[in-house]
Amino acid sequence: MSPSIVLFCELMDNGKGNKAIPYDVVYYIPKIDICTNGTLVHDGDIIELSDSDVVVFSANEDGMHFVKAINSTIPKLCKKMQDIRRAIKSKHAVKMFNDPVHFEDIGNKLSTYNLLKQLPYVPRYAEYTRDVKWNIFPCVVSASRASGGRFRNLCNNQEELHANGRRIQKMKGSTFVVEYIDSTIDSFRCFHNLRLMVVDDVVVDWFCRPGNVWNIHTRTQNKDLIRDVDGWCEEWMNSHQEIVRRCVEDLYGILGRGAYSYDLIIKDDMLYLCEVGYKFWDDTVAKLIDIDKPTKELSAYQKTLKECLLR
Ligand SMILES: Nc1ncnc2c1ncn2[C@@H]1O[C@H](COP(=O)(O)OP(=O)(O)O)[C@@H](O)[C@H]1O
Ligand SMILES: [Mg+2]
Repeated sequence: MSPSIVLFCELMDNGKGNKAIPYDVVYYIPKIDICTNGTLVHDGDIIELSDSDVVVFSANEDGMHFVKAINSTIPKLCKKMQDIRRAIKSKHAVKMFNDPVHFEDIGNKLSTYNLLKQLPYVPRYAEYTRDVKWNIFPCVVSASRASGGRFRNLCNNQEELHANGRRIQKMKGSTFVVEYIDSTIDSFRCFHNLRLMVVDDVVVDWFCRPGNVWNIHTRTQNKDLIRDVDGWCEEWMNSHQEIVRRCVEDLYGILGRGAYSYDLIIKDDMLYLCEVGYKFWDDTVAKLIDIDKPTKELSAYQKTLKECLLR
């Protein structure tokens, strides 16, 4: 029997690009009940799996409105996924992508850094507290759980660090400080951020996002510079294949099987990690960015993902 790709998600439209997953069956996490003997029931029907199946988890680790949409919370969703995972593992030797064991660590940037801290791509960082010993400036102080650029400030000295740190901590709880990595590209007078789209240790696509400010997101990048910066980045990647390969292999070694987006900054001959996210396909790029990339061709991209999942 050929393997089936079995998708477990909290909802289809969860910002992870599920449209690109070549799944055969989908089960919705909120509709699953776990029997005491480990049998999984979806909407009243028993879930049948075989050892050759490929199980793919997809849930949104950092978008609060996605968990609200299923009347849940991140800790509740996390627990449910762990329970489902355990039930599956107790019965089947399936291949599992985006194993929920790391779900919370990936949604929390401080935990992500803690998990990956032995890797050279992780900048110097510390948990922010009132009496943190920190003397690297400039630095960025940021909520551990935040996305979209809010609750994050660049600080040039101790006063700025503590004024911002205390404010963010009061509003958002867990906060961290990290060295500021200068992402300036001199020749284009802009900042940049490199997003690698990776399955396991295979780079399936990448985008270099130019910005007028240091804090860059897909929607707010400087679109006029995308082509130029893409060429600049391609050249860098070609002449630094070894470091790119090592970076994705090292991350794979810790995070395990899965589809991830890595937000990185290129500095001289090195890559520095800003953030890890779960992502199968970047639909925002597909919609907004007018440049030839594998991501733009959904059906070809699905084929690539299928090869990666069945490899
Ligand atoms: N340590 C850092 N030094 C310089 N720029 C950073 C640093 N961390 C993040 N950034 C910038 O801020 C942007 C957003 O940060 P990121 O960690 O990806 O969080 P999110 O995308 O959830 O807002 C990154 O794309 C990068 O441009
Ligand atoms: Mg990011």
